[in-house]
Amino acid sequence: MSRPRVLEAMAALQDHARALRGSRTLDLFAADPDRFAKFSVALDDFLLDFSKHRIDGETLRLLLALAHAADLEGARAALFAGEPVNLTEGRAAAHWALRDLSDRPLIVGGENVRGAVEAEREKVYAFARALRSGELRGAGGAPFTDIVNIGIGGSDLGPAMAARALAPFGKGGPRAHFVSNVDGADMADTLAGLDPARTLFIVSSKTFTTQETMANAALARAFIVERLGEAAVAAHFAAVSTRLDKVAEFGVDSSRVFGFWDWVGGRYSIWSAIGLSLVIAIGPENFTEFLRGGFDMDEHFRSAPLERNIPALMGLIGVFHRDVEGRAAQAIIPYDQRLARFPAYLQQLDMESNGKSVTRDGGVAEFATGPIVFGEPGTNGQHAFFQLLHQGTDVTPIDFLIAAEPIDADAHHHALLFSNCLAQSEAFMRGRTLAEAKSQLAAAGLGAARVEALAPHKVFTGDRPSSVLLYRRLDPRTLGRLVALYEHKVFVQSAIWDINPFDQWGVELGKELANRLAPIVEDENAPLAGLDGSTAGLIRWRRREA
Ligand code: F6P
Repeated sequence: MSRPRVLEAMAALQDHARALRGSRTLDLFAADPDRFAKFSVALDDFLLDFSKHRIDGETLRLLLALAHAADLEGARAALFAGEPVNLTEGRAAAHWALRDLSDRPLIVGGENVRGAVEAEREKVYAFARALRSGELRGAGGAPFTDIVNIGIGGSDLGPAMAARALAPFGKGGPRAHFVSNVDGADMADTLAGLDPARTLFIVSSKTFTTQETMANAALARAFIVERLGEAAVAAHFAAVSTRLDKVAEFGVDSSRVFGFWDWVGGRYSIWSAIGLSLVIAIGPENFTEFLRGGFDMDEHFRSAPLERNIPALMGLIGVFHRDVEGRAAQAIIPYDQRLARFPAYLQQLDMESNGKSVTRDGGVAEFATGPIVFGEPGTNGQHAFFQLLHQGTDVTPIDFLIAAEPIDADAHHHALLFSNCLAQSEAFMRGRTLAEAKSQLAAAGLGAARVEALAPHKVFTGDRPSSVLLYRRLDPRTLGRLVALYEHKVFVQSAIWDINPFDQWGVELGKELANRLAPIVEDENAPLAGLDGSTAGLIRWRRREA
């Protein structure tokens, strides 16, 4: 479908950006003392500062015009109406329904799902309460001290990221472990520290067919059978899936099986029963606060005008960098050690959603789509890859995330952390000119020849864009806001790019080929005919070496 109004709006944006490239962001601050107020937006204690991007009021106006041309508001209305916005799979994408804590009807695919959503959540909560209180015990009567979630992708990354982020809220609960990789080392290393009599395994898989998860679940089952006997399996396993028939085949007791719906995408499933391990780790009350944070962001995204709408602005600024400035990557740097897995979580959310080159109706995408997302917590990243971000030949926009106050950490450390975060954001914008580098070196007492030789190495171009997300503290509600914010940011971008963010056909081919290769790798006499030269050569090499 051709979208002439969108193409026109993008062209206008490109023209304006070209003109703005002559200015420096610092000059934009100098020219407007209110720039911070104008280029930041808050949802009570949750602030987005986007003033350090080289954009002005006209850029924002043109970005909003682009959003209108792409009918972002229409796309948002369809999402929250529970329409089948996931066109290729003919489904709604109603993860928002799982965290709607109001009492209005939740219409998904024409049906009110509120009763089903709340009943399933209550079942999850009851199980978590019983486990945390010690009422639910292992086969030999011991309370559970450890739980192991077995899942991958969306059935792992969300609960694993959040359990780590909210560790201080997990006091009194069992230790939570996460096994995802089909590399047997993942399970072996986890099991090594565990007492089977006190360990519960939760097999989490939307489809209950995923190779890695099924292989790991079989390993865990064998571990329990070997240590405690076949009769203990029922007491040591629970499962979460949309395919209750397949769970029954695996043999998990039906009272310990928790369901969700095909209108919840895997990478959006943390809000569903897939969050079971997180609910057990932090307790139902804290999980409800997490849902509340997601709901806060939904209400904001649905009702705030686009010019004051945090997900819309973040999405549009991302589109500006990707399609106008040609930036291929996006860094996510939480100055919050407990968010160490947040960049990995966002990699799936963003790259599996918007890593597409086909439009919703099957045409060729008109614009460059999703960026490469990567990141590590600060300050660690500063001592690793920030060199390239400061002085490399590519410019990468950065999202910095930081709390105003720490939880369970001393004030001095937090002051250092906070200063580093702001210093980096400032340094990326400010840069250092050749003249400044020379005068600094001269002031340090270096001779003229040395100053000339060294100065070029000490130049920073500056005008490297970053946003700062500043929240009061990393509690369950804040984390809920953060996750929902990025979900909606990704959605906003998908609407501008006219792509379906809710399918993931790009993961299929590798899965098919792995299933075809597995028997050939396992049976060393299997013929290699029909394989390409590299694949056959590598298998032959392994047969010789292994
Ligand atoms: O590899 C793609 C994927 O389908 C993800 O979208 C999903 O989160 C993950 O695999 C796990 O799938 P499942 O929950 O069905 O095991």
